[in-house]
Amino acid sequence: MNNRPLKVALLGLGNVGAALASELQRRGDAIADRAGGRLELVGAAVRDPARARPGVPESLGKSADPMALALREDVDIVVELMGGTGLAGEVVRAALAAGKAVVTANKALVASDADRLFALAKAHDAPLGFEAAVAGAIPALRALEVSLAGDRIRRVAGIVNGTCNYILTRMEVAGLDFDAALGEAQRLGFAEADPSSDVDGEDAAYKLTILARLALGAAAAPEAVSREGIRGVRAEDLRRAAEVDLVVRLLAIAERGDDGAIDLRVHPTLVPKEHPLAAVRGAMNAVWVEAEAAGPLMFYGAGAGGLPTASAVLGDLVAVAQRVRGGAGAVPRAGSEAAKLVDPGARQASVHVACLVADEPGVLAAIAGAFARHGVSVESCVQHGRHADPVELVFVTHRCREAALDAALAEVGALPAVREVASRLRVQPDAEG
Ligand SMILES: NC(=O)c1ccc[n+]([C@@H]2O[C@H](COP(=O)([O-])OP(=O)(O)OC[C@H]3O[C@@H](n4cnc5c(N)ncnc54)[C@H](OP(=O)(O)O)[C@@H]3O)[C@@H](O)[C@H]2O)c1
Repeated sequence: MNNRPLKVALLGLGNVGAALASELQRRGDAIADRAGGRLELVGAAVRDPARARPGVPESLGKSADPMALALREDVDIVVELMGGTGLAGEVVRAALAAGKAVVTANKALVASDADRLFALAKAHDAPLGFEAAVAGAIPALRALEVSLAGDRIRRVAGIVNGTCNYILTRMEVAGLDFDAALGEAQRLGFAEADPSSDVDGEDAAYKLTILARLALGAAAAPEAVSREGIRGVRAEDLRRAAEVDLVVRLLAIAERGDDGAIDLRVHPTLVPKEHPLAAVRGAMNAVWVEAEAAGPLMFYGAGAGGLPTASAVLGDLVAVAQRVRGGAGAVPRAGSEAAKLVDPGARQASVHVACLVADEPGVLAAIAGAFARHGVSVESCVQHGRHADPVELVFVTHRCREAALDAALAEVGALPAVREVASRLRVQPDAEG
């Protein structure tokens, strides 16, 4: 293996890029040792080259033209940390087509353009690393692709959005409602000014499609993921859940059914307090994996932040550098097959349904009747509040088809005594009654 210095173009000097530049300078010798030779930053692309960049080596040249920098003849490795799918996508594809190694942390790009990126990497024998695109610092993708390569994975369930996990755990611990917890997360820098991609489940759906490719070999577009965010989760739901030893987490779930069909979904989920995923609090992330031979595994750690994410990017840099020097690996498996997805209506789950109703005789029977007409079997019902208007009834169903529950709840919502079907929360698949 040759050990000439490899030249690295760094596209983006934001949270992650600046941390990466500073780590490469601070730990250059140790990283060179692992990478089989030095990694030299030859320039960085930013929107505003004139801006001061504390922590970034002053000698690092800045350019506002990421394409030109990436395609420079002498550049071996392109690290894309700009974000977005437009220009970032064009540059990454051009770099791969030019046979350069690419490392990116860009989940939106990898999730929405994986087929093209993987094909380019394969066609041009160009290593491509994207470990940081899912769950920040956690080396889950390499574990799925390399360490578990000899196993068969049945299900992956991830807490992959730190913003949502922060909000849900603050609602749980401090009794805050969604808006108050979101405001707190924004003040502390755990949520963006526009939090929609996080709280509406889009970000988790991106990460889920990447996990599904690596864990299940199933290729699907992020739009194919059934998703429900956390805006509809009420403080009451968390209180009621705690009374029966459950917590609520936004899970991104990919699983293979007995018929081979793949289910991809993101939704708030009731998780038993004793399950390892329930112990994931605040902005932390975790990826839970159920493998046939290995059994259950959980990978836990920081899902975001400049330095933690830079750690995963550096790991990829070392891996692709080894490959550029003639080693093996680091070109993603291009063999993912277009996933045959399950019919969402046929999906089954045990569900907690909260209904706000008038406290009058016959309501319970009317709701139970609607459930029964659609074949939804009720395991229990608890009334919260008495002689109030409304009172809350929480029904726990046995495992039922989602289409049947939808139809039952449409009927329940139309009953005169029912003010509102206030929430429905699915129980985590491996914890259903
Ligand atoms: N932050 C995290 O915790 C985290 C975690 C996991 C993955 N990621 C992913 O990592 C990537 C970077 O995230 P970040 O938080 O570091 O982003 P960021 O702080 O917004 O930084 C983006 C950087 O890219 C530069 N840039 C943007 N558009 C550009 C353009 N058209 N031309 C040249 N430079 C451009 C910006 O330049 P200026 O500085 O001049 O504006 C900035 O330096 C994203 O794909 C993100 O999803 C981030």
